Amino acid sequence: MTTQPRRYHITTFGCQMNKADSERMAGILEEMGFEWSEDPHEANLVLFNTCSIRDNAEHKVYSYLGRLARRKHDEPDLTLVMAGCVAQQEGESLLRRVPELDLVMGPQHANRLKDLLQQVFDGNQVVATEAVYIMEDITKPRRDSSVTSWVNVIYGCNERCTYCVVPGVRGVEQSRTPEAIRAEMEELGRQGYKEVTLLGQNIDAYGRDLPGTTPEGRNLHTLTDLLYFVHDVPGIERIRFATSHPRYFTERLIKACAELPKVCEHFHIPFQSGDNEVLKRMSRGYTHEKYRRIIDKIREYMPDASISADAIVGFPGETEAQFENTLKLVADIGFDLVNTAAYSPRPNTPAALWDEQLSEEIKQDRLQQLNHLINVTASERSHRYLGRVEEILVEEQNQKYANQVMGRTRGNRLTFFDGDINELRGKVVKVKITEIRAFSLTGEAVEVREVVSV
Ligand code: SAH
Ligand code: SF4
Ligand code: F3S
Repeated sequence: MTTQPRRYHITTFGCQMNKADSERMAGILEEMGFEWSEDPHEANLVLFNTCSIRDNAEHKVYSYLGRLARRKHDEPDLTLVMAGCVAQQEGESLLRRVPELDLVMGPQHANRLKDLLQQVFDGNQVVATEAVYIMEDITKPRRDSSVTSWVNVIYGCNERCTYCVVPGVRGVEQSRTPEAIRAEMEELGRQGYKEVTLLGQNIDAYGRDLPGTTPEGRNLHTLTDLLYFVHDVPGIERIRFATSHPRYFTERLIKACAELPKVCEHFHIPFQSGDNEVLKRMSRGYTHEKYRRIIDKIREYMPDASISADAIVGFPGETEAQFENTLKLVADIGFDLVNTAAYSPRPNTPAALWDEQLSEEIKQDRLQQLNHLINVTASERSHRYLGRVEEILVEEQNQKYANQVMGRTRGNRLTFFDGDINELRGKVVKVKITEIRAFSLTGEAVEVREVVSV
């Protein structure tokens, strides 16, 4: 009998949440005795962790899956798993489309992968998409980086933005307890990780589903309280969080970020549109004036803070004048980075059914205009770094030049400089910035700081 190890491959699409889920699922597979295979063709188990935020993200999956389904005809022992947001959205109907699938599982079931696979190995075709209470995962995730890591703090989303599939596929908000979050961070600190990004689709909602209020009636467990609770975890040098929602963003949070030395001065706050009428039809619950006030407040406390965001162009009915309000907001704020997208009608979302859908041509034209402007403002923002000495946490080798390493400023700007990755990985290096580009910097090392655990 051969005792060849079983091998697995995971392909991940979508956001940081999906990446974090993939790392947890990889941890479960390794605990089950599977070994990682870089080449999906050599794997006995292939898992797609899918994204359905836009139509093109969803379509990519089907073309990959088609190829693997054909392979299964020659290798009946190949196990095919479809996880993530497309799996949740399509459920059972995926089996009709791709009958070769062994397991279809929604994101809420990521921690149950072992049980679900057991049912598959017992000879069943399994669909796990019902809403569940997400159990704490006791498996050690297999993390891609040995320096930076994600920690989920709240799953799901209770908002109802009219364009968005997330509430439908990720379910209602479920916060992890502060103790569980701190315990995971302490373990990361012990393992030598230096940076943690706390994750939630609407991270400002953290804790509103947890019991307990202060004597004044304020919820005990807010994101701000969580930051105070975890900021002194030994070994962790930097703390980030994403994604912020302008509707719930508070001055208390800004104050905490300014006060807590490990919390980085970088805010990812999507605005989606710079026009109040469009924002209303998106059901975002704020105005562009409110958004501007938040940014002003952040800059009042932290003048050098980096601001990034997401924006959508070509929302149904968006007029030329309304689009120009988005351009105006981008020009006025001066973002460090904006992720942009042309509106994509999604299943089970209200805006997809509205009459005033714009043509692909208009959407692409607006996307180009906006991207062009963002390039200009990001380049302007990069200028402030020229000649400055920045603290860079080194993560990896530069993929392009092996004699260089790659890290980030506290404000999240990618930075490259000459150095040996084996010596510098995980170290904080003072780097003098000598070259700037719109979204990255190059510099020279001035001083390497040994990280002292607090
Ligand atoms: N929770 C975050 C972001 C969630 S999805 C927030 O509230 O901002 C990530 C980004 O994808 C969104 O910020 C939005 O810009 C984009 N997006 C979501 N649905 C989309 C759609 N139907 N078409 C185009 N872009 C979309
Ligand atoms: Fe989607 Fe809105 Fe929730 Fe963000 S806040 S995940 S855009 S529904
Ligand atoms: Fe995509 Fe699901 Fe994230 S739809 S963006 S992977 S929450």
